[in-house]
Amino acid sequence: MRGRRGPPTLALPTRVRETRVGAKRGKVFWFFSSEKNFFVVFRLLLEISSLEAGYGSVQVLWGVDLQMSPGIACLIGANGVGKTTLLRTLSGLLPARAGTIRFCGESLEALRADEILARGVAHVPEGRRLFASLSVEDNLLMGAYQTRSGAKRGLARAYDLFPRLKERRRQDAATLSGGEQQMCAIARGLMSEPRLLLIDELSLGLAPRLVDELAASLRGLPTLGTSVLLVEQDVATALDLAAEGFVLDRGVVTLSGPASALATDARVREAYLGI
Ligand SMILES: Nc1ncnc2c1ncn2[C@@H]1O[C@H](COP(=O)(O)OP(=O)(O)OP(=O)(O)O)[C@@H](O)[C@H]1O
Ligand SMILES: [Mg+2]
Repeated sequence: MRGRRGPPTLALPTRVRETRVGAKRGKVFWFFSSEKNFFVVFRLLLEISSLEAGYGSVQVLWGVDLQMSPGIACLIGANGVGKTTLLRTLSGLLPARAGTIRFCGESLEALRADEILARGVAHVPEGRRLFASLSVEDNLLMGAYQTRSGAKRGLARAYDLFPRLKERRRQDAATLSGGEQQMCAIARGLMSEPRLLLIDELSLGLAPRLVDELAASLRGLPTLGTSVLLVEQDVATALDLAAEGFVLDRGVVTLSGPASALATDARVREAYLGI
C-alpha cells in the first residue's frame, strides 16, 4: 500500500487502452472483456443521440447529442437545465423516452440500472446519499456488487486513493465532514470498477482546498481505467480538470469541445465564468 503521496498502485482489470490505426492514424480504444473473452474495440466511450427524458408530463431532455472519448469530461449548465436528469438517464434511474445511448459500442438505453452498472457505468448522485448509520467501510461495500475478491480489491483501491477514508473506516458516515462524505461517495462509486463514473456536483458545499484535493484524486482515474463525466457548478475547476466539455442548455447540448477551447469561448466565459 502506498502512502499519502504518489499515484495509486492498483490497476483496474478493465483498463481502457488507446491505439492509433488506419491511414489517418485515428484513435481507437480497447479493453479485454473477461465476461466475453474478447477484446472490445470502440472509437467513442459514450455516444448519445437525440436523447429525451423527463418526469411525468414534464419533459427535461429534448434531444441530447453528446460524444465523449475516454478520459475526463465535464457537463456544465445553469440550474434546472437537466444535468442531473441526463446523468440519471445514463445510469438507468430514469427511462429514456427516445434516442440512443451507446457505451463502449453497446446500447444502454433499454437496460435497467443494475444492467448498466454491470456494463461499467457507476453514478455518484447529487447530495452523496450515503447510509448515515453505516460505517465508511459498509458504505463502500454497498457499492461492490460482484465477488468478494472484487470487494477486497475495491476497498484497497478506495483507501489508496483516499487514505483519510482508511483512517475513518469504522466511523459512521454521518460523522464524516462534507469533504470526507464526498470522498466516500466517490469511492463507493468506484467499488464496482466502472469504466465510466458519473459524478453529480463534486464541489457542492466544499471548501476550495478540499475541491482541489478531490480533483487531484480524480485526475489519476483515467490511467486506472475509469473515465469520468463530471457535472459541476464550479465551471473553472471543471474545465481545468476535464479534457473535453459539454454545455447543456434547456435540455440540449449547445456547445461542446476541448475544455481548453470552452474555457476561452466568449459565450462560456460570459454565461458561466462571469468574465
Ligand atoms: N422528480 C422530478 N419530478 C418532476 N420534475 C423534476 C424532477 N426532478 C427534476 N425535475 C425538473 O427537471 C428539470 C431539470 O432538473 P435537473 O435536476 O435535471 O436540473 P440540473 O441541471 O441538475 O439543475 P441543478 O444545477 O439545480 O442541479 C427542473 O425543471 C426540475 O424542476
Ligand atoms: Mg443537478
